Amino acid sequence: MSIQTTPDPTLNRIQIDQLLDNSQPDDGQDIIKGLQQPQKTLPPRYFYDDQGSKLFEQICQLPEYYPTRTESAIFQQYAPELAKITGACELVELGSGSSTKTRILLDAYQKLGHPLRYIPNDVSGGILTSSASELLEKYKSLKIQGIVGTYEQALAHLHPTPLPGRMVIFIGSTLGNFSPEQCDQFYHHLNKALEPGEYFLLGIDLQKPVDVLESAYNDSEGVTAAFNLNILNHLNWRFGSNFNLDWFEHQAFYNPTDCQIEMHLKCKRKHEVTFSALNFTASFQAGETIHTEVSHKFDLKQIQNYLHKQGLTPLKTWTDSQEWFGVLLCQMGD
Ligand code: TRP
Repeated sequence: MSIQTTPDPTLNRIQIDQLLDNSQPDDGQDIIKGLQQPQKTLPPRYFYDDQGSKLFEQICQLPEYYPTRTESAIFQQYAPELAKITGACELVELGSGSSTKTRILLDAYQKLGHPLRYIPNDVSGGILTSSASELLEKYKSLKIQGIVGTYEQALAHLHPTPLPGRMVIFIGSTLGNFSPEQCDQFYHHLNKALEPGEYFLLGIDLQKPVDVLESAYNDSEGVTAAFNLNILNHLNWRFGSNFNLDWFEHQAFYNPTDCQIEMHLKCKRKHEVTFSALNFTASFQAGETIHTEVSHKFDLKQIQNYLHKQGLTPLKTWTDSQEWFGVLLCQMGD
């Protein structure tokens, strides 16, 4: 009797590098640091455990959350032009999540007959692996090297590419979730990762009426609230804390001085939370908040000037007709 096996067509086309090491002694120290500040904070990357990544995918489909569909429409319209400008290049995406919008780019590169190499990076290994295998099914000549890790780790991990060049993709207005200092740091790492002449694709949310902004982060189905609260759940399973999610509520509002949405978790009653894996206890007062996220809303002129100062030349800026969202293709200078 002979056993017939069908060769796996995706074999040899994918590699996933796991760079997150939860056993490092400093794992979780950023949480302690954040919760010891007078205004408590938590690092936003803890939003994205597998459950958080799923909730975020749901946010992207919400009627109130305009950024995803607006950015996708810009890609639909301009991806062919973009692919023509850069020519064949390796696509490196930071915070790739479900890679849905990236498919539009892959289609454009494929149409031009360019070889497809994609390096998705995410802190959530679950979503990275499942979306990578879907992509391999759809694009028969695609090669993927996934990197599970922080942006910084991913940028430092890039090897020379066999293609003529590389484009680092940072879309979804994730840059808006950085503080000004984190922003400077990010460009420092990006500078080291890109060779002169290589590309950077940035997608950013722009300023617009406050009611549109505030409803995007306070949806009527409560998905954003569940996403915000899930950060506490993540800490509970990962660091043995005992947060009770019923004792916190979601808050999101626009701060016009700093042009940003600010997200908080507001504590409803005085209590203590213990992190058994970190040997740490935090005290909470009724009414105090944990600041979990900012989402900056950009001005195109300002960001173009900023990119110039970082050594990146904006070659082309695309927006939608309302100028709600911007996509900038930049090239690294010498
Ligand atoms: N980059 C996204 C943004 O700034 C992240 C985001 C969207 C988000 N919705 C959120 C983060 C809700 C926290 C909560 O829009």
